[in-house]
Amino acid sequence: MLHSKIGGIGYYVPEKVVSNNDLIKVMDTTDEWIQERTGIKERRYGVKHEETTTTMGVRAAEIAIQRAGIQKEDVDFIIFATLSPDYYFPGCGVLLQREMGITKTEIGALDIRNQCSGFIYGLSIADQFVKTGMYKNVLLVGAEMHSMGLDFSTRGRNVTVIFGDGAGAVVIQPTEEENKGILTTHLHSDGTYAEKLSFINPGAHGGYHAKTAGETTDFGYSDAEYGEMFVNEHMIEEGMIFPNMEGQFVFKLAVQKFPEVMMEALNKVGLKPSDIDMFIPHQANLRISQFVQQKMQLRDDQVWNNIQRYGNTTAASIPIALCEAWEAGAVKDGDLVCLAAFGSGFTWGSALIRW
Ligand code: UT7
Repeated sequence: MLHSKIGGIGYYVPEKVVSNNDLIKVMDTTDEWIQERTGIKERRYGVKHEETTTTMGVRAAEIAIQRAGIQKEDVDFIIFATLSPDYYFPGCGVLLQREMGITKTEIGALDIRNQCSGFIYGLSIADQFVKTGMYKNVLLVGAEMHSMGLDFSTRGRNVTVIFGDGAGAVVIQPTEEENKGILTTHLHSDGTYAEKLSFINPGAHGGYHAKTAGETTDFGYSDAEYGEMFVNEHMIEEGMIFPNMEGQFVFKLAVQKFPEVMMEALNKVGLKPSDIDMFIPHQANLRISQFVQQKMQLRDDQVWNNIQRYGNTTAASIPIALCEAWEAGAVKDGDLVCLAAFGSGFTWGSALIRW
């Protein structure tokens, strides 16, 4: 029976380093606050007007493709996960195809909007396509250019200080080797708290969800002119065109769901937390990762954290961290790798990979 494996992996982070002290120049925050609450010291920002979510994805994809030992023309399906797409539509999947000069049309391009768990959702989809024999080289990219869509005033400080730009990519290929590659994936969602971590304007909601959720948010819709359904002056003035988050609410659920979904994966294949050689958490907050590590009784050398240097790169965070760990020799042939993520939606998931 066919299984799927990660045949090649790559990542790209922009050169520009933005420290916590750089952010102090534009908003009321401190290096101490950011480090104490999140563990983040610095993050990377892409070059405005030159780099985009797509172009960063291309940089990572080129490395993954080369390491997979294939040519770009061999890619038969593209999956692109991001919450900061270049365009509202079309998605980054086709933009990446064009940017890479993949001109063949016998290829599909799918965009995933599952935020922090986007990479794990993409991995699960790629796994299904490859192990059924439908595709041989699925290019899965997670990339974010958050810096173009954040509120750099004090109003947005709880969200803005967390996020950074970057991209990671993998090529998923078939293997006939037993007990090798992606062993299992697990996906979950619960839309009850969709707005707790969200970026809702511009959107076509017209205030609908706020009303049905019994909230009082005033979106400034006057007499519902159709043209102003997406964004209006009131939203711009009130800073409603940026991501928002109820941090503590998200934090509490995250530390509960990470261990749950990791145990679900381990139980499925009859393994224990102590069997994990490397745990790659979605890099949401160092405190979340440390809490999960403790709960799962993992040693420091069983967990890869790089949020200190890159911040939270959402859909890109897992492939960037996985690639770094592999390049550093911390993920080796035969190792059991556990991936897990939780975020906006809420959506969460896990994957176990025998490297
Ligand atoms: O990857 C997606 C999933 N996201 C997550 O998993 C994020 C989970 N949540 C978190 O990481 C944390 O909740 C945050 C880091 C976002 C916030 O930390 P917190 O300890 O939950 O802080 P808070 O939001 O409860 O705010 C505490 C105080 C507030 O001031 P008052 O009301 O106590 O006077 C905030 O206004 O900290 C203030 N604050 C800041 N102060 C300095 C919020 N952001 C900042 C800031 N600098 N950047």
